[in-house]
Amino acid sequence: MISVTRKSHFNAAHRLNNSKWTDEKNQQFFGLCNNKNYHGHNYDLEVTVSGELDIESGYLIDMKQLGDLIETEIESKFDHKNLNLDTSEFKDLNPTAENIAIVIWNILREKIDIKFHLKVLLHETSRNFVEYSG
Ligand code: NI
Repeated sequence: MISVTRKSHFNAAHRLNNSKWTDEKNQQFFGLCNNKNYHGHNYDLEVTVSGELDIESGYLIDMKQLGDLIETEIESKFDHKNLNLDTSEFKDLNPTAENIAIVIWNILREKIDIKFHLKVLLHETSRNFVEYSG
């Protein structure tokens, strides 16, 4: 088993809010992330693909293709967007770091050969990050 990781980055705004809760409960629970005029994060993404090395090429997966896939499917979709307002994925889904990681994993999982294990690491701040692998 060998793994390769591709790093990427996007900036996005969000607001954490549960429409089923009162304003007071949302403010109390989500704190600054509930700010009704939104706020931004510089998200760092690490996508790790694992599997068996292809002996003939010496590659696990073409990193250029992986980078292009992340750019097309993730960066172009989320970079410089308001996740709540500009994306269909978070129209009815609270854009927590956890949910963003799951959404990204689901998008990539459909595009990456099932023979590979896939893991997504999403850094929301320099101190907080989420890992999801299905
Ligand atoms: Ni936030």
